[in-house]
Amino acid sequence: AAVDLGPYRHFMQKEIHEQPRALADTLEGALNSQLNLTDLWGTQAPEIFKDVDSVLFLASGTSHYATLVGRQWLESIAGIPAQTELGHEYRYRDSIPNPRQLIVTLSQSGETLDTFEALKRAKELGHEYTLSICNVAESAIPRASALRFLTRAGPEIGVASTKAFTTQLAALYLLAISLAKAQGRLDADAQAGHLDALRQLPGSVQHALNLEPQIQGWAARFAGKEHALFLGRGLHYPIALEGALKLKEISYIHAEAYPAGELKHGPLALVDSNMPVVVIAPNDRLLEKVAANMQEVHARGGELYVFTDADSHFSASEGIHVLRLPRHTGLLSPVVHVIPVQLLAYHAALVKGTDVDRPRNLAKAVTVE
Ligand code: G6P
Repeated sequence: AAVDLGPYRHFMQKEIHEQPRALADTLEGALNSQLNLTDLWGTQAPEIFKDVDSVLFLASGTSHYATLVGRQWLESIAGIPAQTELGHEYRYRDSIPNPRQLIVTLSQSGETLDTFEALKRAKELGHEYTLSICNVAESAIPRASALRFLTRAGPEIGVASTKAFTTQLAALYLLAISLAKAQGRLDADAQAGHLDALRQLPGSVQHALNLEPQIQGWAARFAGKEHALFLGRGLHYPIALEGALKLKEISYIHAEAYPAGELKHGPLALVDSNMPVVVIAPNDRLLEKVAANMQEVHARGGELYVFTDADSHFSASEGIHVLRLPRHTGLLSPVVHVIPVQLLAYHAALVKGTDVDRPRNLAKAVTVE
């Protein structure tokens, strides 16, 4: 059935605003079942999850960026070593298969050829533990996997992925706590704590969406720029990558993302008053480190646009613009901090008058090599 735009101008805008609902729907099964592994992942899940000794994520594009967050959650929550690789790289290199490794593919469409071929290659190498996290039930990648989890974002029409990304993150968090549970590393209190944090998530995302008018003001200033730099650290480096990708895809502004600690090893040479620098700076244990990186930019005349949390100490001053998200959401913070960078890209593209839902040269699902 055709999807209706409703009151929105673009599908991308509609999909950004649907995120609280998409997250609630995606999390519903886990919250109602108190994390029942069979219901969530498939009948073989308890057995496979118990035996898994490591995880390899395979994906492309925005889905790949989700895995960069997921990998960190797996190690910190489940204590399971996790790596991530682009499908088209994995497919053509020699690798050492490990039958106890869980191969996790992430794909909104379930049809991306690079990811599908990487999964086939893993199976050829002897991997039997395969899990697909996907937004389209009847698609190639989940069909070829032993276990599957469907995100419930609903149809995503805009080429630039938004609600698929945040629901993938929700699924990855569920994967981390599910693996911890299967391996006896999650007591009842810890499980209740994680589920409670997930229950709050749609509300926190809604609070972030409410910042749209302020972000619109920032976007107007970006639209005239040719380049932008995005910085983040730890769990938020992938959010910087995603912010830069969104800006490139739909506004055609050249944007690059760096882990903020890497600034001094090269990109600092680019910083001047024409280079807006977006900083994802939540109130986590890396805040002081990020603040020092911001100082390096400020000292070189760079214009800073900082997304932080209500309780952090930054204040705006000449050349430093600050927007605060209403509350810090701990390990789940990347899900909330991606919202403002999605909105920034959307509004910059609106000012530039690009074809937001169908950017030039790009396709929604890339089924060729
Ligand atoms: C294309 C789309 C991206 C998407 C990527 C992976 O490049 O334009 O938005 O992130 O494919 O798609 P998938 O469906 O596998 O998540």
